[in-house]
Amino acid sequence: MKQIILLLSLFFSLYASDIRDVNKTSITFSIPTDKNLIVMQRNCQWCHSYGYILNQGRQNREFWHKLVIRMREVYKAPISPRDELLATEYLTKHFGVKE
Ligand code: HEC
Repeated sequence: MKQIILLLSLFFSLYASDIRDVNKTSITFSIPTDKNLIVMQRNCQWCHSYGYILNQGRQNREFWHKLVIRMREVYKAPISPRDELLATEYLTKHFGVKE
């Protein structure tokens, strides 16, 4: 009896599953263009959108520097020491606070 109920519920759940096209929202976040944008493109863009950066609001240099280091040490982003400084410079310039 249990098996029949199980089979019937499996059948109905498969039958009831409705496969439709779902419209997924796609948001493109853009960040300021300058000579170091290329550094951001080659180091940051391929794991997540720039939305993560924009969501942080304005922060000081130390915050951005620690964040870039965290991306490398915790999430294993292969960021070179030179790009670490250039990305920090870029982030502080465009998303920094007046110190
Ligand atoms: C190897 C993949 C990878 C790369 C490359 C990468 N990140 Fe991340 N980043 C992550 C992951 C994973 C998270 C955490 C995601 C989550 O919590 O949902 C994250 C989170 C963030 C956050 C949100 C705040 C936080 O601390 O969680 C910011 C801001 C951020 N990344 C900025 C950057 C910047 C700037 C760069 C380039 C210098 C970069 N990321 C490169 C993987 C990466």
